[in-house]
Amino acid sequence: MRPLIAGNWKMHGSLAEAASLAGAVRAGAAGAPAAELLVCPPFPYVHLVASQGGAGLAVGAQDCHAAAKGAHTGDVAAPMLKDIGATYVILGHSERRADHAESDAKVRAKAEAALAAGLIPIVCVGESEAQRLAGEAEAVVTAQLDGSLPDGFAAASGVVAYEPVWAIGTGRTPTEPDIAAIHAAIRANLVRRFGKPGETLRILYGGSVKPGNAKAILALPHVDGALVGGASLVATDFLAIAAAA
Ligand code: G3H
Repeated sequence: MRPLIAGNWKMHGSLAEAASLAGAVRAGAAGAPAAELLVCPPFPYVHLVASQGGAGLAVGAQDCHAAAKGAHTGDVAAPMLKDIGATYVILGHSERRADHAESDAKVRAKAEAALAAGLIPIVCVGESEAQRLAGEAEAVVTAQLDGSLPDGFAAASGVVAYEPVWAIGTGRTPTEPDIAAIHAAIRANLVRRFGKPGETLRILYGGSVKPGNAKAILALPHVDGALVGGASLVATDFLAIAAAA
């Protein structure tokens, strides 16, 4: 399957920086023909980046509300994101699970809203360091998948991102066998839940992916792309990761 290299810009950048970063990624996308490239800017910049035009770069958002519309001050609905050109939405990132107390049930409701709007959800799962040290990583990830993925996930080619919380922004990553083990467990979970379509859903690894470690990580079985944070803010780094796919 075609690997997906997704950049999560988180809460960074200005309007001018978003335009310039997306422009540089678009300009270099031809150098990474094997991968599908996606950037997920902060809400205020999604429309600008999506309207820059040109093929070769998909645009997504970093969250959406579970309702299609309504009295939810400050929130953004999935149909609005679709309307301004987004095709993907990241859901259940550990920063949202922590900062906004998002439960698996809430993530699932948001993923249902994304599917209803025609967006592809990228649902994030991952264990904390304490859970990893306690040998609970696989059980935690399995429970998150069971609780967060909606029934229509496979039919819409939903994406799972495995992001160990302790590897995000720290420069640390699990060992290659540890990444492979969790990705194999996620694959088994998807096949158990969705049958044959679960075999071809993309499973991304996220957490301190850099140009220097991308090739080794992306070569692991059932690693079908990367969700990149910090390195996605530097076009040359993001493109180097994409070229390693
Ligand atoms: O969504 C992206 C992840 O949280 C990874 O962030 O690449 O800065 O570690 P990072």
